[in-house]
Amino acid sequence: MEAHFITGTGTDIGKTWLACALLRHWRAEGRRPAAIKPVLSGFDPLQPQASDAGALLAALGRDAGPAGLDAIAPWRFAAALSPDMAAAREGRRIDFDDLVAFTRRVVAAPQRPLLVEGVGGVMAPLDATHTVRDWIAASGLPCILVAGSYLGSLSHTLTALAALAEVGAGVTAIAVNESPDSTVALDATLETLSHHAPGIPRVAILRASPRAGVARLAGLLS
Ligand SMILES: Nc1ncnc2c1ncn2[C@@H]1O[C@H](COP(=O)(O)OP(=O)(O)O)[C@@H](O)[C@H]1O
Ligand SMILES: [Mg+2]
Repeated sequence: MEAHFITGTGTDIGKTWLACALLRHWRAEGRRPAAIKPVLSGFDPLQPQASDAGALLAALGRDAGPAGLDAIAPWRFAAALSPDMAAAREGRRIDFDDLVAFTRRVVAAPQRPLLVEGVGGVMAPLDATHTVRDWIAASGLPCILVAGSYLGSLSHTLTALAALAEVGAGVTAIAVNESPDSTVALDATLETLSHHAPGIPRVAILRASPRAGVARLAGLLS
């Protein structure tokens, strides 16, 4: 299946960066990928290009005008908070069923490869009763789980995998995005994951030379 939900062990782990790298990789191969980032917090309407949606649109070769933003990121909130809190700040709430319906409509369209970027980590709250995990399960998409190589990432990664397994969400690959200044060797992180998460492909994304990892991940997604 060439449609994936890109989630992570937490915020700022590299979901958008990796999604953009994959989109650029596919475009360089002459393909026409699609991507959405339906829920965006910390959005500044004066600087749409600085948002995740702006980055994804740039990687798709589209501009971050209102039409592009509305098409890929309809739920935009100003506060850089979890989605439930960011929505509440504006007297709004995310209607989970609407979010799932929007996602399913995009998945039903034929354009591939498709990436759906979540928000925050696997268990980030969307409203009072739903988290990103529920959205992943309802979307029916397998995931790419973006993790880091920092000290502590193994527990975060295995916790995220356990949470996803509980709702039957598939994980196509764990992308271990090298954490800057980590005291832990990336290879050691991959080795430990091979014991604790056997059967799930692991891909290292090296800061200094990310292209090989991005290409390998793209291969696993096709
Ligand atoms: N492999 C990488 N190489 C260089 N910069 C990266 C890499 N991964 C993440 N970053 C940077 O780290 C920051 C957080 O990444 P981002 O993709 O926005 O995280 P997320 O989408 O998970 O919140 C961004 O400034 C991003 O450009
Ligand atoms: Mg992001």
